[in-house]
Amino acid sequence: MGELVTNLPKPEIPLIWNYDESVKRTKTNYYKWSKMTLEMFAEIWIAFKKLSKEGRPKTVANATDKWSDYCQDCGVDRKTIWRWFVRLGWLNDGLYSSNSSEWYTPSEIIYKVCDVLGEIDLDPCSDSFDKPNIPAKNIFTKKDDALNKEWFGRVYMNPPYGNVIDKWTEKLSDEYDKERVQEAIALLPGRPDTVWFRGLNKHPRCFIFGRLIFSGQENSAPFPSMVVYMGNRLNEFINAFGDIGDIYMRINK
Ligand SMILES: C[S@@+](CC[C@H](N)C(=O)[O-])C[C@H]1O[C@@H](n2cnc3c(N)ncnc32)[C@H](O)[C@@H]1O
Repeated sequence: MGELVTNLPKPEIPLIWNYDESVKRTKTNYYKWSKMTLEMFAEIWIAFKKLSKEGRPKTVANATDKWSDYCQDCGVDRKTIWRWFVRLGWLNDGLYSSNSSEWYTPSEIIYKVCDVLGEIDLDPCSDSFDKPNIPAKNIFTKKDDALNKEWFGRVYMNPPYGNVIDKWTEKLSDEYDKERVQEAIALLPGRPDTVWFRGLNKHPRCFIFGRLIFSGQENSAPFPSMVVYMGNRLNEFINAFGDIGDIYMRINK
């Protein structure tokens, strides 16, 4: 066993971890976790260390390098283990970790948001009182804890991209459905494989071409982005965002 592993205690989830929705939902997963021995955990960690930063195996050889076997032995799928590692702070994949949740909106997006909304009444996840990146009339910062406030007016939301992103998309949908928010635009990772993405299904969205260079970053983001629109002025949204991405709406069965 590697040195890192020998020092790794198996964490007690309920004590140190406000565990993931999916784990919370399935008692079976929770049971599996409790059945996992420290050795299994350590083996998974070693296998995990062989993966590249993006979570893809570095080589084809590594792809088969026991990683899947370990997951199978534990009876847990790879995605769940992935999420556990992120939660435990053992993994920074550039999208899920709390360290990388500060993806500030690039100015080209801000201009377009203002084109559609006219003015932004509220940025519920602002980076700063003194020098906010978004020119909104009102802001909530982390200190205010926007998730526990009522939102209003025309909202622009670029939330933290950690594992709590679903709380933000649910909150925005809820405030819009309750008509406290009149119109809204959200900048989010383009992740059709997630549950929160499907929660926004009824709203049109623009899948941005390529990868955004977020404000203050030198390089493109390691994930694709989309801009979701909630409101009745779809033409304005299309006019503003149609040149930087493709706009889609869901076709219902
Ligand atoms: C991705 S950044 C977006 C900053 C800015 N709104 C922008 O678009 O450039 C998300 C911001 O949400 C803030 N934040 C985190 N948790 C929050 C909370 N509970 N309530 C309000 N803001 C929060 C973080 O401090 C962070 O600056």
